[in-house]
Amino acid sequence: MTQIMLDLVRKEIKQMPTEEYAPKEEQLNVKSNMALNINPFRVSEKVLQKLRVLSELKVHHYYPENSDFLRLISEYVGVNKENVLIGDGCDGCIEMIAHTFIAAEDKAIIPVPTFHRYEFHTKMMGGSPVFIEMKNFKLSADDILRQSKDAKIIFLCNPNNPTGLELEKQELSKLINNFKGIIVIDEALADATDVNGMALTKKYNNLIIVRSFSKTFGLASCRVGYAVASKEIIDQVKKVSSPFKVNGIGQELAIAALQDKEHISKSREFLETERNYLFKELDKLGLFHTKSITTNFLVDLERISSNSGKAAKILEQKGVLVTDASVFKVPKNSYVRIAVNTREENEVFVNVLAELINKKQ
Ligand SMILES: Cc1ncc(COP(=O)(O)O)c(C=O)c1O
Repeated sequence: MTQIMLDLVRKEIKQMPTEEYAPKEEQLNVKSNMALNINPFRVSEKVLQKLRVLSELKVHHYYPENSDFLRLISEYVGVNKENVLIGDGCDGCIEMIAHTFIAAEDKAIIPVPTFHRYEFHTKMMGGSPVFIEMKNFKLSADDILRQSKDAKIIFLCNPNNPTGLELEKQELSKLINNFKGIIVIDEALADATDVNGMALTKKYNNLIIVRSFSKTFGLASCRVGYAVASKEIIDQVKKVSSPFKVNGIGQELAIAALQDKEHISKSREFLETERNYLFKELDKLGLFHTKSITTNFLVDLERISSNSGKAAKILEQKGVLVTDASVFKVPKNSYVRIAVNTREENEVFVNVLAELINKKQ
C-alpha cells in the first residue's frame, strides 16, 4: 500500500497488528488439540439431521427472518423477545456493543486475565482499555470501583476465559449495584454450567449479557450468538446491527441445537468427566491448574519451561496444541490455556506432559 493510501486508514486500525485465525491442525501432525475451546462432545445428531434437510429446502436463497429464533432464545433464557438481539457470535455482539457505547478516549474496564477481544473492540473504537488485575484470579468490586469513576463500560467474562472460574457472586452484585455505566457479562462459556445472570437483566437496565452457540452447542463455524438486556439498550444496539443478522442456515441449526435438551445435558456430563480426569492427571504430575467449571483452564507449565510460548512450541513438536496464555494477560509467564477434549486427545496430552517432565528430572 502506498503511503498516501496508508494515510487514509484510521489511526486505530493502523496501530493494530494484522491477525489471522490460522488453525494449525491441518498444517501439523496434531494428535491432541487442547487449544480448541469448544464442546468436546461435539454437535448434536439432531443438528446434523437438520443440516441434511436444509440442503434440500435450499434456504440459502432467502434473506434470513429471525422471529422464530428470537422466540426460542427468549424462552430458553426466560426473557421477552424485545430483550434479545442476535449477532454473529458472541464476538459479533461485543462488536455491536462497542460500536454503540465506546467513542474515542472512552475508558473500558477489563479485569484480567480474560478473553482478549474486549481489548480489541475497545481499541477499534478509539477507546482506552484499563486493565485491572484480578488477584488470585478473583474479581474485586472495590478494586474496580476505585478505578472506574470515569469509565463508560466494564467487560466481564463469566465463567472466565482463560481460568474457567466463576466470578464471585457477591463481588459481581456489589459491582452491578454501584457502577453506573454499562456492564457487559460474556457468558459464552455458561451453557454447560449453573452460571446464569439473565434474571439480573430484568433488574438492572445497564447490564448486557452475551451468549454464544459456538461452545456448548458446537456451532462455532455458523457464527451465532445473542445479547440480552433491557429494551432501551437492545433498541440502541439494534441500530448498529444489520437487518439480515444472522445467516439463515446458522439460525436453523441453532434452533435444532437449542431444542435438543438431551444433548446439552449429555455434553455437560461428558465435560465434567473429562475435566475431572484432566484435573486428576495434572495433580499427579504436580502441575498447578485453575479449578475450572467449564471447558477451558490455565495450567502452569513451569516444570517444562518458564516461558509459555516455549512450552507451547515444545508440546507442538510432540503433536499437542495448547494456547500460550500471555494473550489473556496472565500474572505468570509459564501459564498455558487448555480446553477439555475427548478422552483420546486428553490422554495424549497427559502422556506427553509426563514424558517431558520425566525427561527433565
Ligand atoms: C469468553 C468468550 N467469549 C466469546 C467468544 C467468541 O464466541 P463466538 O464464537 O460466539 O464469537 C469466545 C471464544 O473463544 C470466548 O471464549
